[in-house]
Amino acid sequence: MKTTRTLAAMAWVLVMTTFPAQLFSQANDAYSRADSLLKMMTLPEKIGQLNQYNDDWNATGPVTVDPGKAEQVKNGEVGSLLNCVTVQRTRKWQSVAMQSRLKIPLLFGQDVIHGYKTTFPIPLGESCSWDPDAIERSERVAADEASAAGIHWTFAPMVDIARDPRWGRVMEGSGEDPYLGSLIAAARVRGLQGKKLGGTNSLMACAKHFAAYGAAIGGRDYNSVDMSDRLLREIYLPPFKAAVDAGVATLMTSFNDINGVPSTGNRELLTQILRKEWGFTGFVVSDWGSVGEMINHGNVSNDYEAALSAINAGCDMDMESRCYRNNLEKLVKEGKVDIFAIDEAVRRILEKKFELGLFDDPYRFCNEERERKALSNPEHPAMAREMARKSIVLLKNENHLLPLSPTLKNIAVIGPMVKAVNQNKGFWDVNVPGVDSNFVVTWWQGISARVSRETTLHYAHGCDFEGTSRAGFEEVVAIAKQADVVLFTMGERRDMSGEARSRSDIGIPGVQEELLELLLKTGKPVVVLISAGRPLVFKYTAEHAPAILYTWWLGSEAGNAIADVLFGDYNPSAKFTMTFPRSVGQIPINYSHFNTGRPARNDSDRVYRSAYTDLSIYPQYEFGYGLSYTSFGYSNLEVNRKQFRKNEVIDIHVTISNTGAFDGEEIAQLYVRDLVGSVSRPVSELKDFAKVFLRKGESTTVTFHLDAAKLSFYDQHAQLVSEPGFFDVMVGASSRDIRLQERVEMVK
Ligand code: GLC
Repeated sequence: MKTTRTLAAMAWVLVMTTFPAQLFSQANDAYSRADSLLKMMTLPEKIGQLNQYNDDWNATGPVTVDPGKAEQVKNGEVGSLLNCVTVQRTRKWQSVAMQSRLKIPLLFGQDVIHGYKTTFPIPLGESCSWDPDAIERSERVAADEASAAGIHWTFAPMVDIARDPRWGRVMEGSGEDPYLGSLIAAARVRGLQGKKLGGTNSLMACAKHFAAYGAAIGGRDYNSVDMSDRLLREIYLPPFKAAVDAGVATLMTSFNDINGVPSTGNRELLTQILRKEWGFTGFVVSDWGSVGEMINHGNVSNDYEAALSAINAGCDMDMESRCYRNNLEKLVKEGKVDIFAIDEAVRRILEKKFELGLFDDPYRFCNEERERKALSNPEHPAMAREMARKSIVLLKNENHLLPLSPTLKNIAVIGPMVKAVNQNKGFWDVNVPGVDSNFVVTWWQGISARVSRETTLHYAHGCDFEGTSRAGFEEVVAIAKQADVVLFTMGERRDMSGEARSRSDIGIPGVQEELLELLLKTGKPVVVLISAGRPLVFKYTAEHAPAILYTWWLGSEAGNAIADVLFGDYNPSAKFTMTFPRSVGQIPINYSHFNTGRPARNDSDRVYRSAYTDLSIYPQYEFGYGLSYTSFGYSNLEVNRKQFRKNEVIDIHVTISNTGAFDGEEIAQLYVRDLVGSVSRPVSELKDFAKVFLRKGESTTVTFHLDAAKLSFYDQHAQLVSEPGFFDVMVGASSRDIRLQERVEMVK
């Protein structure tokens, strides 16, 4: 009898260690499958799942040299790798993981921030489209390509509200407004993850950086954040909540502390708010090394305490710091960390691996044929071009200089961007191994393809983005004198905005504006096109250039999109989602500010007013600003009720008319001012918008909706409240260009 039992036990062990996870394919859901597997795992194997390493292909943070990586993967001591791309490379690493005792597959994570191979405009540029559906489509393309390249998980969307353009990472987000930022956050999650995880053309998304990273003091990257709980909940958390409500699979902690508590060790944030209040069930990964960085923050004394703080706060996976790897087993054995906390974290990660189907087939994302097809899908560049056109903001167009005729005889195309290739890909591009960047359409190529045979294009580099060399100036002026029109590109180099790229001076670098002055002196009409990853300060250009386009970094189809706008094949419709200051001294400045006790109502009303004595009270360009080749009229503002109860909705109708000479799109915006609140309320808050296409002469009526929920806010105790009272409802073409308004009253 005993022999039989022994034999049976041996058989069970043999089967379970040969095909451990596959046996759970009969289990009904990811949770129970993860739970069953968890019960088989040793403590070192559990801790392994909480450990994420950087692959050696690329680094996006301070690298730890670790020759034992492969051995650790083979021993099941690593749960995920980042910066590991292509089917070939992910398959190789996955085969190493399949040699481990339990054959738990690796998760491959990558920063696919605005496209994998096909590159879309930087997210701040895309946000200026005010087109969540288009943004969702652009993320769908990114997911299609990245998942085909073996990637399971992208560290996107970055949903940090950002109001300080000195911070280089504003380029990765959706600007300053929580309402628009929340809509875009949800759209990006939907685009990346598809209807549900598990499809081989979907990626796990990762809302980052949780939280309030964009409020770093002074716009200095990684700096502290100091803010009330009220402000945190009203402005900085909503896009994360929107991502969670959209089903985001993961979140990433931010490097910063909030009021002295690093996010990576902030239990109030990672457990109380994220899990208990919001019901988030996915997992949380630390940002690069941020578990260990709590030592620098001065909240813990060593790695041991850092691991203790982070795991108990609710940070499930440790990216690159090795604090979990080196300390969790000891912490559990010494009773400092409850095995329950480890099991919870491991289960969350295993659940996602089951949901992705990786236990059923660890190589299901490794298909070379699919990778080849996805990266050469002809529809993808077309979608990138569409998104790029929608992201270009027209700032000025004196005497309708634009659009240009494609039959002009001589066009001078000048500046450091004209023939640049990789500059169009922005800071967070994925330099896909084995893929040459010649798929990027340069400005020169796009414009050359668009002009007529009678047109001669004259090119000059002119000057660099940075530096003092004026060696090219003479040639440029000579070329300009021959031209009917001059196109002059200026701005930042792509590595001047992005992570660890905070700038104290956000002017146009180098001698670019000096060259513009020379070009303007030729008397030729000059169109300025500004490439940047942030709002820049360009007072001279704004005042003297007759036409200005803000082009961000537009990605693979930059040249074609630029040509589409320059020659009128697309009428620019984008509007800024961040305020552009007149000077760096005007920061912080955003449209949704409090009135203060001494508001300056205009530039002549400044005595004993909240204003600078040496600067206008207005920004260079306000939130929501952007022109068109046509013009739009607003009329017939009507509200279905002037008084409404908390359980009623107000419908606000307004007629938009295309009063100009071009078909075009208008982004009509609805702002609200709550006139009296238990805490001061901003002079304006975006509460709805509508993007409409109108042929010239056409009109349409758009309807906005308001209800008590949209008018709620956080009171001084950081409680969400809805207070009756009067509200100004304002409809306009920007936060400053208000065309119509009405006062309504919410009653109990
Ligand atoms: C970087 C960034 C984060 C990125 C991660 C992995 O430091 O802060 O946004 O996802 O490391 O590359």
